Amino acid sequence: MNDINRSDIRSNAVITAIGSYVPERILTNADLEKLVDTNDEWIVQRTGIKERHIAAVHQFTSHLCFEAVHNMIERYNITVTDIDYIIVATSTPDAVFPSVASQVQSHLGIENCGAVDLQAACAGFTAAIQLANGLLVSGAYRKILVVGAETLSKITDYSDRTTCILFGDGAGAFLMESSDDDRGNVLSMYSKTDGSRGHQLYRSSLASAIGDHAIHTNGMIVQNGREVYRWAVSHVAEGVKQLMERSRLSAADINWFIPHSANMRIIEALCERTGFSLDQTLSSIKLFGNTSAASIPLAIDEAVKAGTIKHDQIMLLYGFGGGLTQSGIIIRWSL
Ligand code: UT7
Repeated sequence: MNDINRSDIRSNAVITAIGSYVPERILTNADLEKLVDTNDEWIVQRTGIKERHIAAVHQFTSHLCFEAVHNMIERYNITVTDIDYIIVATSTPDAVFPSVASQVQSHLGIENCGAVDLQAACAGFTAAIQLANGLLVSGAYRKILVVGAETLSKITDYSDRTTCILFGDGAGAFLMESSDDDRGNVLSMYSKTDGSRGHQLYRSSLASAIGDHAIHTNGMIVQNGREVYRWAVSHVAEGVKQLMERSRLSAADINWFIPHSANMRIIEALCERTGFSLDQTLSSIKLFGNTSAASIPLAIDEAVKAGTIKHDQIMLLYGFGGGLTQSGIIIRWSL
């Protein structure tokens, strides 16, 4: 038997490209005023959202992924045919199966490639980065495409004013590669889940109960906004602190805090409780709304395009939501 020395095949994971896409159609607060009993002032005050992008009728999550990857290819002039694994984080796949990731593989014409969808709601993108990092560091794969993409408008009930004001569509992608450089990009990670609160935020077209809690099965997003809000500002804030403690870093050592763009008030409360200033916090909430697994890469890519994020800066990315689950990483930006 070959005696494989693990140290020979271990490497580090680095982010080598980023891309993003949002659909053309914009849904403003004024548009929503015509659908439900709401107004711009209430929405902006309670959520910080001005508008969201909405996919066309025949545009699904896989199509948003294709656009985000093409955007990445154009900007970084990269080859994608040698990608050996694709992870798409989404709660709104075109179909339950085949996976969106397999549609991305086919669209890009990659021959030898694993492809899986990952479902961790708004914690999906950071969870996917955690997994991609593990697969690269182990030496199992060398080039992984990670996409966070959603068409939440397809599962939003536009007669429910407590949810329809929040959600939007979009996609963001990272290319991650193994590197022999002794500095990897993912410095530390943290995850925590509380499935006993799953019924507070869900979408079901099958089961009519989560645990002991009866739920709706209309296939639309249902949430107890106040409960999710309370959980986010207490438990998620605690999770962010745990991640920093684990890394022996404080908010002052971290250049950018990128929490999931759930709601601006949640982001402000998280900043207050964790020591980050709003000036060092990036979000995609104002112009894109809550795009779940896409919100973190969209916020990062907007800042990359604006030249705000600099090479070697330290960033804390923190996803949280349906599960209820949370997943955070601290990375060193390599682009
Ligand atoms: O990715 C994670 C996904 N989920 C979340 O992030 C949800 C977290 N929660 C939230 O973002 C907030 O709870 C909401 C934005 C959903 C609601 O804000 P809130 O400050 O918690 O409002 P509330 O539910 O306490 O409702 C306050 C009032 C109520 O009226 P009354 O009972 O005080 O007369 C609601 O009926 O605001 C009313 N209301 C609205 N008014 C105008 C609820 N939705 C609207 C609306 N427009 N769209």
